[in-house]
Amino acid sequence: MKLSGNKILITGGASGIGLGLTERFIQENNTVIICGRRESALKEAAEKFPSLITKVCDLSVEAERIELFEWVSANHSDLNVLVNNAGIQQWMNISNDDFYERAKTEIVTNVEAPIHLTSLFINLKSLTTIMNVTSGLSFTPMTKAPVYSATKAFFHSFTLSARHLLKQKNIEVIEIIPPALNTDLGGKGLHDTAPPVSDFIASIFEQLKQGKTELTFGFSEAMTKAGPEELKNAFSRMNPQ
Ligand SMILES: NC(=O)c1ccc[n+]([C@@H]2O[C@H](COP(=O)([O-])OP(=O)(O)OC[C@H]3O[C@@H](n4cnc5c(N)ncnc54)[C@H](OP(=O)(O)O)[C@@H]3O)[C@@H](O)[C@H]2O)c1
Repeated sequence: MKLSGNKILITGGASGIGLGLTERFIQENNTVIICGRRESALKEAAEKFPSLITKVCDLSVEAERIELFEWVSANHSDLNVLVNNAGIQQWMNISNDDFYERAKTEIVTNVEAPIHLTSLFINLKSLTTIMNVTSGLSFTPMTKAPVYSATKAFFHSFTLSARHLLKQKNIEVIEIIPPALNTDLGGKGLHDTAPPVSDFIASIFEQLKQGKTELTFGFSEAMTKAGPEELKNAFSRMNPQ
């Protein structure tokens, strides 16, 4: 993709990796729109980056996804990049009483929402690029987050199919595959020892400049290249008995 002159919607763009993408895309002279549930987080981001356009939206609600698409179509019909970044991670056990209820929330946010947004936004005539944020856990699960890991495996698989299918429409599909990074994902403190988002963003923009469509970093680079034995070993290291 070209790195400047785009109009980009980043879901969950007010915090963590989304905010890192927002900052860098603004620096590269793009127009950026972000959405999320927390108006306070959107406002804080807009104070930092005055050119930022924001929209409150709960992507776990089907009607709000449709409303977001209709709002973009009416007000930003020149949008050419959709970044499916928003996601949640829940540490839980299958034997927890509330397991199924929480699993449903994770599936609707991490799976249903981005595939629905994809099916809506490809109808924008201007759309040239979709970027999907999956995970190193798409390749080997962390059992503390069993449903999260499975949603990311799903999203990785869907991204491969979307890249193939959307070639016919001249839409490029880029996969951003982060390893664990220091954000508030899953709750404050869980990712404190992980590398900073800034190092990750610097690396993936280098890869974008080189025309790569699978953007990896550290652990996630290793996982995308791993054979069956290495994947088994990574699983054992991550999930000690
Ligand atoms: N950090 C990591 O270690 C890591 C590793 C691999 C992949 N990832 C992926 O990277 C993406 C970004 O995560 P992050 O680490 O940057 O965590 P984060 O700071 O918690 O960001 C998640 C973003 O998604 C938004 N979001 C969540 N549910 C939403 C909903 N129902 N509707 C609209 N927006 C919603 C949140 O905004 P609101 O709360 O305001 O709605 C927030 O801005 C996720 O897809 C995550 O799975 C992260």
